[in-house]
Amino acid sequence: MLNWTQSTPKAESKEFKQRSRPAPVNTIPQPEAPRAKAPGGQRIKVDDKKIINCKADLNQLVPFKYQWAWDKYLTGCANHWMPQEINMTADIALWRSSKGLSADERRIIKRNLGFFSTADSLVANNIVLAVYKHITNPECRQYLLRQAFEEALHTHAYQYIIESLGMDEAEVFNMYREVDSIHEKAAFELQFTKELNDPHFQTGTDATDQRLLRNLIGFYVIMEGIFFYVGFVQMLSFGRRNKMAGASEQFQYILRDESMHCNFGIDVINQIKLENPPLWTKDFQDDISELIRQAVELEYRYAVDTMPRGVLGLNAEMFSEYLRSIANRRCGQIGLPELYPNASNPFPWMSEMLDLKKEKNFFETRVIEYQSGGSLQW
Ligand SMILES: [Fe+2]
Ligand SMILES: [Fe+2]
Repeated sequence: MLNWTQSTPKAESKEFKQRSRPAPVNTIPQPEAPRAKAPGGQRIKVDDKKIINCKADLNQLVPFKYQWAWDKYLTGCANHWMPQEINMTADIALWRSSKGLSADERRIIKRNLGFFSTADSLVANNIVLAVYKHITNPECRQYLLRQAFEEALHTHAYQYIIESLGMDEAEVFNMYREVDSIHEKAAFELQFTKELNDPHFQTGTDATDQRLLRNLIGFYVIMEGIFFYVGFVQMLSFGRRNKMAGASEQFQYILRDESMHCNFGIDVINQIKLENPPLWTKDFQDDISELIRQAVELEYRYAVDTMPRGVLGLNAEMFSEYLRSIANRRCGQIGLPELYPNASNPFPWMSEMLDLKKEKNFFETRVIEYQSGGSLQW
């Protein structure tokens, strides 16, 4: 339950007055504004901006070059939500009852919380520690900052579900070390972060620019575009059957955010390709296709592990087909040939799940609208 008045410092409190007092003049060193002019001795022009290896001032948001990045930032803000707004009462009762859920259903829920609760931290850390400094464009960075916050909200949502249901937190949060199918996916992703997190790593050569591109594909196409989807289908299937409606709704909001992250990453990848054609060699394309093939294999193993028997109208074979169709779609989005001819999507209802309006009372749970500005009383 949100209570804005509690989380807002009271204007009359002593502590607030002390904190809000203006600092004495000349005690805070002011950063010097860069005086060097952009190439050509002029103010920054759109053409000075480049998505990687840009030499122009990165502190100036405008003029926009990549309108799509700014538009996604605005959409992300308009889609803002908080995990505590979603009513978990029915989920808690169902989780505690001895008859409400089968052992197989409980396994799916626990495994997915185990995977996602650390996966979103991996994504956030990859943005902050590996990718951010190498994306040399202010409007893209603006979106990355929004995305990093959304990843924090997702981790918050998983923790909120785990805590609400009274799960063994140590068991769930350690699954990425202790459960093979989860560990393999996490290790697959960590290889990309590790490479760029090396303090000696810098872009600017074809070889290192390709490593950055590989990281972006590893996270935006594979992690956010393939590794999340068995879990999304499974968790949303509970909601479709009117079980664990609160958890399912949390995942539905997360799916909407993740889908935007994936689309942003694909735009960044394609923009880097467009501005740096020598990076997209045949060898590089083969390497990426092989990574996607491995990812489909790992995600299928995850599907089998989370769902050793058919349940909720789903089974592992359906996921085999589904993952192939998603992988084809991802390949097409970054300009690679499809890997699995004739694969079809057995879950067409998933696309409807993205069409989520905040005012809609989806599983009869509650979501409030955000107000900007007016609700805070100082
Ligand atoms: Fe996320
Ligand atoms: Fe994400």
